[in-house]
Amino acid sequence: MCGIMGYVGPRPASPIILQGLRRLEYRGYDSAGVAVADAGAIQIRKAAGKLDRLEALLDESEPPGRLGIGHTRWATHGPPTDSNAHPHADPTTRFAIVHNGIIENFFELRQELVEAGAVFTSDTDTEVLAHLIAEEYDGDLTEAVRRAVGRATGAYALVAMTADEPDTLVAVRMISPLVIGFGEGETFLASGIPALLDHTRRMLVMEDGEMATITRDGLRMETIAGVPVAREAFEVDWDVEQAEKGGYPHFMLKEIFEQPRVVADSLLGRLHDGEVVLEDVGWDADFERSIEKIWITACGTAFHAGLAGKEMFEGLLRIPTEAVYAHELRYRDPIVAPHSLTLAISQSGETADTLAGARLLSERGSRLVAVTNVVGSALTHYSDDVIYTRAGLEISVASTKAYTAMLVAQYLLALRLGQTRGTLDTARAAEVAAALEALPDQVESLLKREEGIDEMARFLGRQLAGTDDIYFIGRGLDYAVATEGSLKLKEISYLHSEAMPAGELKHGTLALITEGTPVIVVNTQQHVYDKTVSALQEVKARGASVIAVAYDDDTEIEHYTDHVLRIPRTMDLLSPVLSIVPLQLLAYHVADARGLDIDQPRNLAKSVTVE
Ligand code: F6R
Repeated sequence: MCGIMGYVGPRPASPIILQGLRRLEYRGYDSAGVAVADAGAIQIRKAAGKLDRLEALLDESEPPGRLGIGHTRWATHGPPTDSNAHPHADPTTRFAIVHNGIIENFFELRQELVEAGAVFTSDTDTEVLAHLIAEEYDGDLTEAVRRAVGRATGAYALVAMTADEPDTLVAVRMISPLVIGFGEGETFLASGIPALLDHTRRMLVMEDGEMATITRDGLRMETIAGVPVAREAFEVDWDVEQAEKGGYPHFMLKEIFEQPRVVADSLLGRLHDGEVVLEDVGWDADFERSIEKIWITACGTAFHAGLAGKEMFEGLLRIPTEAVYAHELRYRDPIVAPHSLTLAISQSGETADTLAGARLLSERGSRLVAVTNVVGSALTHYSDDVIYTRAGLEISVASTKAYTAMLVAQYLLALRLGQTRGTLDTARAAEVAAALEALPDQVESLLKREEGIDEMARFLGRQLAGTDDIYFIGRGLDYAVATEGSLKLKEISYLHSEAMPAGELKHGTLALITEGTPVIVVNTQQHVYDKTVSALQEVKARGASVIAVAYDDDTEIEHYTDHVLRIPRTMDLLSPVLSIVPLQLLAYHVADARGLDIDQPRNLAKSVTVE
């Protein structure tokens, strides 16, 4: 996740900015930089890699100046290099900006500017904004930024400065967070509260669609449309650790609650009038039409996302799809026919088994597309194409938001292939696209609903905390979600938990179901709804205590269950993005009730880079 820090006041800006960026390091980044204005000129220092590299540059020659901006970048457009690091400037270096988020129409804007003669020095979407601000400037930075952002679409936070106004920063918030901090004769600005806590506790959080003109004495705030905004500053009483977790007790819970944003970011700029744009995919329509087999390889949570992908690719595309654990695949002798496409799914892009499995299929002639969260990770180097998941850094070992982002990436791919191959007609493709676009709000409403999914999960979590074994069941896509729900529970609560297709129960596991055994069922797939209900009746008859995940408008499910975790209605195909959320919360609350170290479960590491 990118970090922003800004300063205007009486002290040298660089050290303050660097210190602020250090406070944001926990969010992850791959490059960093600082821009400072002094005596009518801007100087920029930036470097790929850790903040120590930037610090070394600043030690060599610290740019003087009392107004500045800094940034830690988590790459979205272009690899992590010195030139792609922020701040970015216009060609005359009279304007510098830092930016978090994504400019959706950057490609069009860049084309326009190139046709008018502009030369770009980076691959980023951000640099486009620096050019636009310079183009729009006629003596008033606020107005130039207002006009420039009027030409851009997307979700972002942006801070701009110009050598011509050495007392002013202009900030715009369009969905990505920005916080302003007030000191004595100095003003700070950052993308997160932790960056400001060394200097002040008096803060103001900007809201979407607002812009602020910031000086050392305070700020003027208005909407992008120019309507003045008056908001009182407040005192922050969090310590640094609480601030890093955004006020949540654990990163896992914070990351669960970040999912509406993550789903939105994963879709951003990728659906244009129903057409799917995958910016780092280089194949053409002929290749898309030629695919005869899809392989999916991954481990753990990423594999579970792949299980959902298998269902969806086969259902939507009618292409035979095989999902194989990478650690199994690497020691097999897979038969890779021509016209194969392999999806290697990995949050980190560094999992040793996934790299090995993916390389094997690639060496045997399959085209390889990485579905990963980390730009420039090892997997991207081995792959022909990449679909980035845009979940931002995931700190909790138990993966949550990266999983939902992996699902969204696969939906986009399936939608695109379905359109090219004609298995999805225009009306059906439009239906899927509209349902996808509705997901961020649905996840948000699920997490915020009044009857409290979190409360319900906490209540059930306390009940389950004392049990020994828990079973998860479902069919098709619901089974795929059940596997992930079960893994989440076992890895952080240390309870034994097992997921199986609902129809498999009666072939053995039913013997373990006795009075009070918890069974969690996911039942959203209408074509097998009744079949899953039959399995429920079997476990109920043996005294099981059943918790279901079901749609809001499913009135039947209550007859067969003890508790229902409700989710908003969507197309059955897309239900995993919603049905996983209550299961993540349930796992969290069971572990919390058991008093465990939720973000760092025993024996587990975030990235498994050894075999
Ligand atoms: C579980 C979890 C792991 C990872 C697995 C693969 O919460 O995070 O199961 O999913 O180790 O990791 P990546 O996706 O980085 O390849």
